[in-house]
Amino acid sequence: MPSNRTLTIIKPDAFGAGKAGKIIAHLEQGGFRLVAARVMQLSGAQAGEFYAIHKGRPFYSELVEFMTSGECMPMILEKDGAVAALREAIGATDPAEADAGTVRKLYAESKGRNAIHASDSDENAERESRFFFAESEAIRG
Ligand code: CMP
Repeated sequence: MPSNRTLTIIKPDAFGAGKAGKIIAHLEQGGFRLVAARVMQLSGAQAGEFYAIHKGRPFYSELVEFMTSGECMPMILEKDGAVAALREAIGATDPAEADAGTVRKLYAESKGRNAIHASDSDENAERESRFFFAESEAIRG
């Protein structure tokens, strides 16, 4: 059975532009429940570890630099089939290719500065949630 929780990050481009409230409202209207949230600025070590899966890709250093460039907002969201539902709600990595009405179509600038991250599997949702939050920091049940 798919998990009902996933991890998202409102990235520094969107957070710095004051779009966090609109993005959260968009997600809540889409049926997601916010069960954990924080505001923080990632260190280079944290961003490098979080995106370690992309190490060696040509965009890796740019990605780490961007993710450390300002505050971001990691959150755990809850909804039935959360991982797939959130990926659908945020749209394609490149906002130019994202469907109308998705978060990236509405709020992202480019493939690199693309407003929001979402876990791509239940396994990564669990790993990424634990990266930012202790179990006691998320609403239970
Ligand atoms: P995200 O969903 O956070 O996961 C990896 C990120 O790498 C992705 O969103 C993009 O913001 C970023 N990225 C930058 N350039 C590229 C690229 N050429 N291909 C894929 N991802 C990229």
